[in-house]
Amino acid sequence: MASLTIRKLDDDLKQQLRLRAARNGRSMEDEARQLLKSAAGESSEMAAPARPTAPPPSALPATAERTATVPSANGRRIVLIIGGGIAAYKSLDLIRRLRERGAKVRVIMTQAAQQFVTPLAASALAGEAAFTDLFDPASEFDVGHIRLARDTDLVIVAPATADLMAKMAHGLAGDLATAVLLATNAPVLIAPAMNPAMWRHKATQRNLARLAADGVVTVGPNAGEMAESGESGTGRMAEPLEIAAAATALLGSVLPATPGPLAGKRVLVTSGPTHEPIDPVRYIANRSSGKQGHAIAEAAAKAGADVILISGPVNVPDPPGVTVIKIESARDMLAAVQAALPVDVAVLAAAVADWRVAHEGAQKMKKTGKGTPELTLVENPDILATIAKSKTNRPALVIGFAAETETVIEHAKAKLARKGCDWIVANDVSPQTGIMGGDRNTVHLITQDGVESWPPLSKTDVAAQLVARIGKAFSSEVGTGSR
Ligand code: CTP
Repeated sequence: MASLTIRKLDDDLKQQLRLRAARNGRSMEDEARQLLKSAAGESSEMAAPARPTAPPPSALPATAERTATVPSANGRRIVLIIGGGIAAYKSLDLIRRLRERGAKVRVIMTQAAQQFVTPLAASALAGEAAFTDLFDPASEFDVGHIRLARDTDLVIVAPATADLMAKMAHGLAGDLATAVLLATNAPVLIAPAMNPAMWRHKATQRNLARLAADGVVTVGPNAGEMAESGESGTGRMAEPLEIAAAATALLGSVLPATPGPLAGKRVLVTSGPTHEPIDPVRYIANRSSGKQGHAIAEAAAKAGADVILISGPVNVPDPPGVTVIKIESARDMLAAVQAALPVDVAVLAAAVADWRVAHEGAQKMKKTGKGTPELTLVENPDILATIAKSKTNRPALVIGFAAETETVIEHAKAKLARKGCDWIVANDVSPQTGIMGGDRNTVHLITQDGVESWPPLSKTDVAAQLVARIGKAFSSEVGTGSR
């Protein structure tokens, strides 16, 4: 077949061809050839559905881009890691495609990537400086690799070189890109790109299988001509539009693409216990698992809120799409809560220790043989009361919890009045209920309008129901004020 000059097509046609080619994982030239072939009746290709390009299919909903409209990644935060391969130049276009879809893109470039494209070009397209160095004091103080890893809804690695994939599969963290990949809880999408022999190599396939088992989603690589002249096979990076489609599909499966009932609201949640140090090795704590507070943070994020979760030491994973700040003591928690204000809603679900020791030992307390030590306790600040009674920056809706072991509703009502919050979620935490540390909860929601007793539910369902109530309160602007 004669050679094709795509450049000479008009812009509209070119755009349509680009989208079609991206969907089918072909170069624009190959796509045009297929179209011509099918028009000439040589093939039924034109009617064939788009070839799936983002394995494993089970990880992505079937809603990947199928039309020329731009699907939304509105407000989603994406970290794009550019690896060192010739396909890095396509990642510049990917930045543009992701931003077109409303995503906020932060770019990290490996050392090798900078041999192919410059941080300046990536920064210009992303609208903020690209990150390049794990030990750059400016960015470490400003953002820091842990925050880069946490404050994101999705991490994309494009191109994912054989070297990067191997490092990811083995959990190496020697540079900024790999440290972020190891620290993130967000879903990870990789777009491999390498020479076909490297792609076929058992080591790469082993690493790919390992990454798939770890939940990493892959888009591409596609078959076609390689940058090296005369080489062809599977190893070309997926086209930017394919990667953008896989990204929006993946985001859609994690977070809703349409604005939820709490879209535009800032929600603060506290969760877990606090640890109050006695000396460097001992502390006062309680049995709170953080399951309920974390579930509320996750439900609020799913409802579209911008969520900050301030958590004491827990063994539950960070919820996706949530900014998590980890603290130990009640005083640290209060400081973190105050620093997070202003917010629209505060849900203070943490089981804050009521007391701490008056004098924390600088060294481990030793047995002296002269009797047992006496610990003097002092009361911790009441975070809920401080926030609910604050004259400045009081959230529109302040929700407390009440952990009780007897006369639950009476005690909780008294707490509501004493602490000045708007709603209280009361639960019976007596050991026989199994609520503290368990997966289920039986709660009473106490508001100015009265008491609602909910049936026994999973903590996830309690969270969903509470978030739905919060959404309703904001939509009708009622029931949020006790003042
Ligand atoms: N709380 C708080 N700061 C504290 C103690 C409690 O913010 N120092 C908050 C909890 O996060 C919860 C509510 O207050 O939302 C009630 O906590 P709970 O442990 O049930 O009550 P206490 O205030 O500790 O009162 P008591 O121990 O007397 O029941």
